[in-house]
Amino acid sequence: MTKHTIVAMPGDGIGNQVLPEALRVLAAVGFEADYIHADIGWECWRNEGNALPQRTIDLLARHKLGLFGAITSKPNKEAQAELKPELRGKGYVYYSPIVTMRQKFNLDICMRPCIGFKGNPLNYIRKKAGGTFDEPQTNPPENVRAALASHAKFKAFASVPGPDVAVSVRVITRPAARRIVSAAFEYAKKRGFRGVTICEKPNVVRETSGMMEETAKEVAKNYPGIALWSTNIDAQLMWLNKNPEDYNVIVSSNLFGDILSDAFAGLVGGLGFAASGNIGEDVAVFEPTHGSAPKYAELNPPIVNPIAMILSAAMMLDHIGEGMMAGRIRKAISAVVQEGKVRTYDMMRLSGGPKAISQGAASTNQMTDAILEKLGRPQARTAAEG
Ligand code: NAI
Ligand code: MG
Repeated sequence: MTKHTIVAMPGDGIGNQVLPEALRVLAAVGFEADYIHADIGWECWRNEGNALPQRTIDLLARHKLGLFGAITSKPNKEAQAELKPELRGKGYVYYSPIVTMRQKFNLDICMRPCIGFKGNPLNYIRKKAGGTFDEPQTNPPENVRAALASHAKFKAFASVPGPDVAVSVRVITRPAARRIVSAAFEYAKKRGFRGVTICEKPNVVRETSGMMEETAKEVAKNYPGIALWSTNIDAQLMWLNKNPEDYNVIVSSNLFGDILSDAFAGLVGGLGFAASGNIGEDVAVFEPTHGSAPKYAELNPPIVNPIAMILSAAMMLDHIGEGMMAGRIRKAISAVVQEGKVRTYDMMRLSGGPKAISQGAASTNQMTDAILEKLGRPQARTAAEG
């Protein structure tokens, strides 16, 4: 096996708690790698005026593979106020290091698989034939749908003074659209799915959603065995609540995909289970979907669920052709979830905080230990990990 060098970017808050857990699991499946620590996040912003320092970009450019925890970001005013005094008023502007990283390395493809582990008490519940399960009431009201479908002409804003108008621009390029849609079809092909759904809003967001859909139709021609379905983002969210099992691979542009992937993740356990990979032609960075959860960052022992980070590390293994190891990790997680003996606070629907452990929740370390035990090669914890 080639020995990889992985750029490890724990970042802020609970990123520092979950990333080391993923490394323990990677070691347990025999994945050999060198890990190089790289700085990213709020402290870099405060001390250097740049949340993604050039040295981190250089490391990613050299080693091509990154594992990332999470970062903290704050609104502009707070960001300026927290800059160290000698940097204030010097024109530093806060940019999201994740967005910068994606743009720098063309990490256009963001994969966010949602796995419903059997026995996960957080899984979406379907009514059984015998009516033993309650079905959640989730159909959104008609007026919500109607609001989404309305479209006012820009002329109507002509008399509004400049400072009172805000506009966001959405840019889609054909080559990036092609790469994203092709990745979705490849994913479906590899896993034997019957279809790919392109989810956009071409009837309202005509230009950009239109190009996404047009590109999808074009790419679909290369995959005769796989159907292309098309949904609008608003209707898709309703169907996702009503009959999520009808969908498997959904491809979407950035904002809609962000919304959709969180909504889908909610059906299979939420942020503690939501993994992702940002994949470019050259560089790839794998991260849990969740952020730095500052309110839990100081808790000792840590209580957050490491599964999202560990599943992200498994996606990294898939990406570099170590699918066997990735499969072993997912199987171990599946066994722990199904057994139901070790559950972090989120899996027990507790509200979190320092009391969670005394209420029976497993700590972050204990969850990883349980996964390692299923892998059959328990790893000794280092003193630093407590
Ligand atoms: P968050 O994802 O950090 O946390 C929201 C809530 O979700 C937490 O309070 C906790 O209840 C739960 N949660 C998150 N991760 C969990 C885990 N592994 N196990 C169990 N429960 C978990 O989002 P929030 O609070 O909106 O943002 C906090 C900071 O993170 C902000 O500064 C935000 O900008 C940043 N952020 C960073 C992201 C990234 O690095 N990719 C993504 C989202 C937010
Ligand atoms: Mg999101």
